[in-house]
Amino acid sequence: MEKMRMETLDMVSENIKKIENLFPNCITETVDENGKPKKAINFELLRQMLSSDVIEGNEAYEFTWVGKKAAIVEANKPIRKTLRPCLEESVNWDKTENLYIEGDNLEVLKLLQESYLGKVKMIYIDPPYNTGNDFIYRDDFKMDQDDYDEQTGNIGEEGEHLFKNSDSNGRFHSDWCSMLFARLMIARNILSENGVIFVSIDEHEVDNCLKILDEVFGRTNRVGVIIIKSNPRGSMSIGELANLHEYLIVYCKEALNGKIIGHKLTESMTDEYKFKDEFGSYRLLGLRMRGGFWRRSERPNLYFPIFINPKTGLISLEHNKTYTEKALPVQPTTMEDGTWRWSKEKVESNYQLLLGKKVNRNGKDVWDVFQKDYLEREGERRTKAKSIWEDAEINYQNGTAEIKSLFRCSVFDYSKPVFLLKKAIEMVGMDNDDIVMDFFSGSATTAHAVIQQNVEDGIKRKFIMVQLPERCDENSDAFKAGFNNICEIGKERIRRAGAKIKEEKPLITQDLDVGFRVFKLDDSNMNDVYYSANEYKQDMLSLMESNVKEDRADLDLLFGCLLEWGLPLSLPYTSEKIENCTVHTYNDGDLIACFDENVPESVIKTIAKRKPLRAVFRDSSFESSPSKINLTEIFKMLAPDTRVKVI
Ligand SMILES: C[S@@+](CC[C@H](N)C(=O)[O-])C[C@H]1O[C@@H](n2cnc3c(N)ncnc32)[C@H](O)[C@@H]1O
Repeated sequence: MEKMRMETLDMVSENIKKIENLFPNCITETVDENGKPKKAINFELLRQMLSSDVIEGNEAYEFTWVGKKAAIVEANKPIRKTLRPCLEESVNWDKTENLYIEGDNLEVLKLLQESYLGKVKMIYIDPPYNTGNDFIYRDDFKMDQDDYDEQTGNIGEEGEHLFKNSDSNGRFHSDWCSMLFARLMIARNILSENGVIFVSIDEHEVDNCLKILDEVFGRTNRVGVIIIKSNPRGSMSIGELANLHEYLIVYCKEALNGKIIGHKLTESMTDEYKFKDEFGSYRLLGLRMRGGFWRRSERPNLYFPIFINPKTGLISLEHNKTYTEKALPVQPTTMEDGTWRWSKEKVESNYQLLLGKKVNRNGKDVWDVFQKDYLEREGERRTKAKSIWEDAEINYQNGTAEIKSLFRCSVFDYSKPVFLLKKAIEMVGMDNDDIVMDFFSGSATTAHAVIQQNVEDGIKRKFIMVQLPERCDENSDAFKAGFNNICEIGKERIRRAGAKIKEEKPLITQDLDVGFRVFKLDDSNMNDVYYSANEYKQDMLSLMESNVKEDRADLDLLFGCLLEWGLPLSLPYTSEKIENCTVHTYNDGDLIACFDENVPESVIKTIAKRKPLRAVFRDSSFESSPSKINLTEIFKMLAPDTRVKVI
């Protein structure tokens, strides 16, 4: 029961809590006047979070590395980029609510930040483990040009952005930390209040990874570190120990709101519920306390007799003619007095959940008391997720085998088993339309697992995959099989997995969403040249007209506007002709857009009469400023609540 506080709030700690909610990485520990630990603000870091320049100062507190401040600046820096829809490579574009996004995940996360702020229920990532052979995306804040030239690997669709992070790099760990830190800071914004993030990692960076996650999400939001027995034979291990495992680190955005619901019971677990009565199947759990404070001397209140009706097994706290047999909590091997798990009050109000039984102890028949633990009396019974996962299906070779069975050759070497992802997805409480995101998606195992899990439990989760179009090595099986980059593999994997799942279970998968909209990161839709009002000259009119890049189509502009206005990219829309102008209506009027030149007043009126929440036109469609004034007037009159913008 929560107690009345009976005193006013300690405003300083309340304020610190508020800052912690916004910037958990700026919280540090100090000691109060009594030497007790208390929370404090790391003002230098807070200043850095609020500044777009690197602030000089000492970086020698807590967990730090060279380039940490620059990573913060990089994460907060705006970019002039967009996501361009690619209908040809998408599957079921009109109906699907899944997304596949190609590009560097830091930039993609920045672009998605508004549209998906606090909207993603689960994030799973499997970043490069920094083994010394990984290619790492070169964010702006990394090395100087000389270092860069030396270390650039010439692979990658945008080859100039990737470098091989080998342990001869003086900033081997720092570069990796900066890479992850910047991305996680944005990922935290995208995660919903009750969202959960999972990070796969191995011994190379697990310690740094945990410290970074502690800093970004807050130590109190750490759910735990799961050992994944991924390689039971320990083959291929270098070093003195044969590594059989890697890690799956789990954090909640806010521990209190966390939605970790554990797993369904396995068959052998449900087999334990072998008894049945009118309330359903149950198992018997001894009422005597095992372990912990089990001695009578430690909890004297929990030592008391319980009386049993020998004919029915029903129990009572009173000894009378019906309840004749006495049971006491006695430790069977030492015969020492123990305790019950329940207090007298709890026993008294739950008689129907207890059962007395005669048992044989040390060759002697004695009475004991058991709790009837029902399988489904309070809804579906689940079991807490365990801290070690060693299911046979979690063997990393399964990931490879799954890829082989879909592609008939090894097009991707590091894919995780679908089982691992399904197990992680299943332990997070999710509803229809909840989003699962993976921004190091590789061969898109996470998308495959989402689709598979949706079939198994009927929940309609959506996915967002992000992947760099990293070029496939020309000697690789993938390249020989016709795949130029990893995105091509990921998209094809989802196509094949979706088709296979539908083929295997045609009856229950009719409505299953196995499609995805493809978007590709690109430079802004707008030309880079902008002029301030007093720089405009008459002969610049033609330039102004082309403020949109020549190769950009209507849909590029529409989706660019959605990103800027913070609308999700997965909703339905229609495009129609009104008096020869193309008009796009997004999600029934969340936004109406017309990017044609010279839009007549009558079309503007038709759009305004529909009272959309937002309307957007092309600046250059209004040849003169009076017609622009008209636009404002028309909306003021016909749809005063519509927010109107021009691009
Ligand atoms: C270990 S793999 C992930 C494998 C994936 N879990 C699977 O089951 O297929 C890491 C992936 O992250 C991608 N990657 C690395 N840096 C990236 C970046 N900056 N943006 C997007 N993807 C990146 C790599 O190309 C690689 O495909």
